Parts: sequence; C-alpha cells; structure tokens
Amino acid sequence: MTDPLTKLTYQAFQKGKSYFGLAHKTLSTQLLNWVLPSTPERKPQSLSPETLITLQGWLDKIIETDWQDAQRGVYPESLLFENQWEDFFTYYPTVWFDLLTIQQRANQKRYQEFAPDIDTEGYPKYYLQNFHHQTDGYLSEMSANLYDVQVDILFSGSTDAMRRRVLTPLKHSLETTFNAVLPKQIRVLDVACGTGRTLKSIRASLPKASLYGIDLSPTYLRKANQLLSEIPGELPQLVQGNGEELPYLDNYFHGITSVFLFHELPPEARQRVIDECFRVIQPGGVFVICDSMQASDFPEMKTMMENFPVMFHEPYYRHYTTDNLIERLEKAGFEKITTENHFVSKYWIAHKPVEA
Ligand SMILES: C[S@@+](CC[C@H](N)C(=O)[O-])C[C@H]1O[C@@H](n2cnc3c(N)ncnc32)[C@H](O)[C@@H]1O
Repeated sequence: MTDPLTKLTYQAFQKGKSYFGLAHKTLSTQLLNWVLPSTPERKPQSLSPETLITLQGWLDKIIETDWQDAQRGVYPESLLFENQWEDFFTYYPTVWFDLLTIQQRANQKRYQEFAPDIDTEGYPKYYLQNFHHQTDGYLSEMSANLYDVQVDILFSGSTDAMRRRVLTPLKHSLETTFNAVLPKQIRVLDVACGTGRTLKSIRASLPKASLYGIDLSPTYLRKANQLLSEIPGELPQLVQGNGEELPYLDNYFHGITSVFLFHELPPEARQRVIDECFRVIQPGGVFVICDSMQASDFPEMKTMMENFPVMFHEPYYRHYTTDNLIERLEKAGFEKITTENHFVSKYWIAHKPVEA
C-alpha cells in the first residue's frame, strides 16, 4: 500500500537535490564568468523556455516511475532515499576548488592531462582523456571521489533514478526466462561499473544473485569496493579490464547491464563491447544498456545535445547521438530489442536467442 507521506518525502527529497543542482550550476557559472570566462567556442546555446519545461516534466516523470517501481517491489523503497552524505560533505568543497583548474584546462584545450604519478600504460588510447574535463580523467583517487557528486549535480539529483531504470527490464527478464534457476545461481555483470552505484541497486533488487563488475579504472573500482563492502550480501566480484575483451567464459551471465559507457566509446569499441557482451551472455539472457538520449528520439532536444560536448569534453558523444545501437546489437546476434526513454537517458533491452 502506497504511503502518501513517504511518497511526499521522496518527492521533496528529489526536489531538494534538483534545486541544489540548479543553484550550484547557476552560481558556479556566474563565478566563472566573473573570474575566468569560457572561451567563445565553449559557450553553450541557451535553451528555450519550452525545452526547460519539457525537461522539468521528464524529471517529474522519472521520479514518479522510480516511486512506482519501488511500490511494485522491483527494489526496496529504502533505495530511493539512499544518498552518500558522507562523500557529499567531504568532497563537495573540492568540487569548488577544482572548478578553476578545470576551466583553465578546458579553455586551453588540454584534454589529455594526467598527474605525473599516474600510470597511463596499457589503456586504450581513446580512454586517456579528461572526460567531462575531469581532473586526471578516470585515473585518480580524487576523480573517483568527486565523480558521483559532480554527475549528480549535472543531472539534478536524478542519476540514481536513471540507473535504476535498468532494474525493471533486468529483473523481469530474469524472472521470466530463468525462473527454474535458483536466485543464488543467477549471475549478473555490470560493464563499466565505475564507482559501483548500479551494482548497489542491482544488489538491492536481486539480493541473492552473484554480481560482477568490470571497469578500466583501478581507482573507481576501489571506490566501488568501498561502497559495496558496506552492504549486506555476497560481495560483487570486481575486475579491472576492458569491456572490449571480457575476461569471462562464453555463455556465463544471465544478465548484463551497462550504464553511461557507450557515449564515451569510439564507434568500433562500441561494437566490440556489444559483441563481447553477446559472447558471455547465456542463451535467453538479457542485456540492458543505459546511456544518453539520441538525436532521433527528441529532435526538439537538438540544442541540448549539441551543448553537451561543447561544455564538457566528450569526444565520442556527437557520433554516439546518431549511432544506431539496434543495428549494432542485431549485428552481434541479439534479438527482441526494445528501447525506452527516461528523463535524458535511453535504454536498450536486448536478448540473446534461446537457441544461440
Ligand atoms: C561515465 S562513467 C559511468 C560509470 C558508471 N557506470 C556510472 O553509472 O556512473 C564511464 C565508465 O566507463 C569506464 N570505461 C570506459 N571505457 C571502458 C572500457 N573500454 N572498458 C571498461 N570500462 C570502461 C570508465 O572507467 C568509467 O568508470
């Protein structure tokens, strides 16, 4: 039974995060305009009032869906109120200190800069970037500590709500296809697990499943390990590795998820990750991708999608927005592919044929 007071509390909690994100973005933009303005080519086009109203409507909608999915038992209600307060209070001041460094680097088009003590050997060339102008790219402890705080400000407090949208198709598909398999024997992999927030929500949704995470960043994996070791249940197995060469047996996983990875890959790498996911997933298994919306989904959001790589260093985003991932998934062998959009994200749900 829906408790109206808890629902109101959740809506207020989300509104608070959204207003905070807006206040931060407004203040930091004003401060930078005053101290160290962006170069003209980094200035975003302004969004129309209609676009802003649409975005607010989408934000309200994803919060409602998030609430409804918790009520339907896809995951516990407590997950909705989960926030890393300790990290927020510890690292939020550093977000401000980092602003000027980021602005300077961005204005000077220094996109591949890493502290001298960071070992950049052995990573794919496309990965050695200061994605979103992030200091040290994905390769320092500080970057791992700031990432979730920064991303959640960008997405107005809705990042976890977007991540949680992979849970409904994942759980539904596992329950229908593998209902004869004991919950403990279900294996789920999160590709590019980052700091572990998607794995944390999968753990809440599938408390008994064996969970696995892979990412190229050793520091993000360390952060994920900290987060995941605090929650009850078997610890997910985290591996440092490339999604293009998954170190797992063929037909091993019942489900695979991947959140916010594909827009940061060049096209060939996107196909290789999809091919690898196809290889390691069991016949009948489900692959759920979450990433940015694409140009064909909402032509009215063209300006916003054009602004993103102008403001943030995202060298593969423009190509991503017009890439046909359905074709790529089919090329790998996936079938029964459907898509969904929630807030500013898009989801692909694909299945490996039972007889594959
Ligand atoms: C935008 S972050 C998303 C992280 C996480 N999934 C989330 O929801 O926040 C992109 C992640 O992809 C990882 N990554 C990028 N290219 C990769 C690759 N080829 N193989 C594995 N991980 C990769 C990065 O290290 C980073 O953690």
